[in-house]
Amino acid sequence: MSPHDIAARALLALDPEDAHGWAIKGLKMGLGPRQSDVDDPILAITVAGLPLSNCVGLAAGFDKNAEVPAAMSKAGFGFVECGTVTPLAQAGNPRPRLFRLTQDQAVINRMGFNNQGLEPFAARLARLKAQRASRNGDAIVGANIGANKDATDRIADYVTGLARLWGLSDYFTVNISSPNTPGLRALQTKAALEDLLGRIAEARGRLKAAGTVDYPIFLKVAPDLEDGEVEAIVATVKAAGLDGIIVSNTTIARPGDLASPQADEDGGLSGRPLLRASTAMLARFHAASKGELALIGAGGVASGADALAKIRAGASAVQLYSALVYGGPGLVGRIKRDLAARLRAEGFASVTDAIGAA
Ligand code: FNR
Repeated sequence: MSPHDIAARALLALDPEDAHGWAIKGLKMGLGPRQSDVDDPILAITVAGLPLSNCVGLAAGFDKNAEVPAAMSKAGFGFVECGTVTPLAQAGNPRPRLFRLTQDQAVINRMGFNNQGLEPFAARLARLKAQRASRNGDAIVGANIGANKDATDRIADYVTGLARLWGLSDYFTVNISSPNTPGLRALQTKAALEDLLGRIAEARGRLKAAGTVDYPIFLKVAPDLEDGEVEAIVATVKAAGLDGIIVSNTTIARPGDLASPQADEDGGLSGRPLLRASTAMLARFHAASKGELALIGAGGVASGADALAKIRAGASAVQLYSALVYGGPGLVGRIKRDLAARLRAEGFASVTDAIGAA
């Protein structure tokens, strides 16, 4: 067992939110794992124009304040999504608000977009950008943007985030699927989504014209969507010219077979019990988008087999968070080795070959 695996086990003895705080501190101090070899070329893929050296990314919520994207890149992730960041700092919900469901290899959270706000986030990404100018091979870094709980105009908050971070982030994710900000997921309904994405597209047009550069924008959706909503979301995303969809955020559903005593806590469920439902939702988005949108699969990825299941269902890349709670950051190296071996064993020459092969 590596020292990082031992540290990850030790953190499991602490309160989950305290453990997360220590993990961030350790990563900031440079104590995280370092991948020593270059990525296996079979794992490389370009997603919405983003050149990923491997298709395994860190999902939003782990690094809400953009404190450790470089450390997570060194740990081996091909892309790191920071946030969700809201324009103003906010405290989030009262603790406890993060729960391990150990028997289920799952997590429930009702954090409520606790974060330091846009300014410190932007300052950190600006520093990272200055450092990266002299280095190659670092992960792609994305910014996941959201709205403050008390915002009177929530859509304006997304536009503010996009404008402030334009030029500092390699891509953007518009997060309308957290179950922990009351009313947020109502933005997934057709009229509200048209309004939101229309205003984002307009802001993007302005920013692009001013700076002549453009960045991919993804929409992140919930796994709990009704029939018909998938098609409406795909049509609206296409009409607004967004680049892709991340499927999915945490679920408000509680599968009947959860064994952990914390299963009844309010909030979003993630980890192993989310794998099947989020992958099924991904397949629906793949069918509806007919290959015209980039899809990123998140929800319950803990192994190379899970990652390959998402790719076969239509994902160009995957993201994970909850499995890190149990596996530690060393897990990403194991997932990548396993995925590369499985791609070869199944006769695929690249990730691209396997997309939608299910
Ligand atoms: C999350 N997730 C999340 N997503 C997001 O878009 N913005 C956020 O701020 C957060 N915050 C957050 C906190 C915690 C503690 C967890 C466990 C998750 C959701 C996350 O990015 C991912 O979509 C889901 O957790 C599903 O993937 P996993 O965790 O099953 O691999």
